[in-house]
Amino acid sequence: MIDEIKKKTIVGNWKMHTTAAAARDLAEGIVDGLIDEEGVSIILCPPYPYLAVVGEVLKETRIALGAQNMYPQMEGAFTGEVSPTMLLDVGCKYVILGHSERRHKLGESNEFINDKVKVALAAGLDVILCVGETLEQRKANQTEALLDRQLSLGLANVEPDTLSRISIAYEPVWAIGNPSHHATPQQAEEAHAVLRARFGRIFGKDAAKQISIQYGGSVVPGDAAALLSRPGIDGALIGGASLVVNDFLEIVRSAIAETEAQPA
Ligand code: 13P
Repeated sequence: MIDEIKKKTIVGNWKMHTTAAAARDLAEGIVDGLIDEEGVSIILCPPYPYLAVVGEVLKETRIALGAQNMYPQMEGAFTGEVSPTMLLDVGCKYVILGHSERRHKLGESNEFINDKVKVALAAGLDVILCVGETLEQRKANQTEALLDRQLSLGLANVEPDTLSRISIAYEPVWAIGNPSHHATPQQAEEAHAVLRARFGRIFGKDAAKQISIQYGGSVVPGDAAALLSRPGIDGALIGGASLVVNDFLEIVRSAIAETEAQPA
């Protein structure tokens, strides 16, 4: 029955944190702490150097490995960059693209992110595309236009037969790493509805129904259930709380409960 309903997805984005030993401990703690993860999809995204270490721990489990970024070429003279083929080689199934920290701190454009999306999908990686407005954009009532733009440019010319390998993460920039200022379930639900409607206008109603849209921005165990119970919030992309075994596991348990609570 669980396969017939939409499972919630919980992604741990470890950002530029951990050491090899800490990454292994964190992954082992999560694997050991899970009892019944059938009702949830879990993806762990450690930093590049620890992908193999964490991949080793996740072998033979239902938890998938993801990367936080990639370069949109299969190989070549791109010093310091990592290709999708390397990510696949080391066991990744997913890649996060367009994270706001890359957009705002590293200057990634929608066009560059779109390149990455297409190359990742063509190489065989599943994509988590992040979108989200800044506080200034929200205050200026530009949220809807911004989400529209990031979504349509980020997914421009994507092959329709790859849509099932794409998910979206709504991450309002003002809510990231800022527990005192995170989005309310209502704000998150509204933004997800905007994204789903836009996705539907581009790819059709069925695809819009199927697409998984996760919320990210200071999700902590205490408010995970309130967020995940909202219609259209299909999961969560967790930063800080994904670095604490018990916090992450508590969020996963909320996701399992909310998956089970959905009407069949
Ligand atoms: P925090 O959960 O630390 O706010 O990070 C959210 C995020 O950016 C996940 O990608």
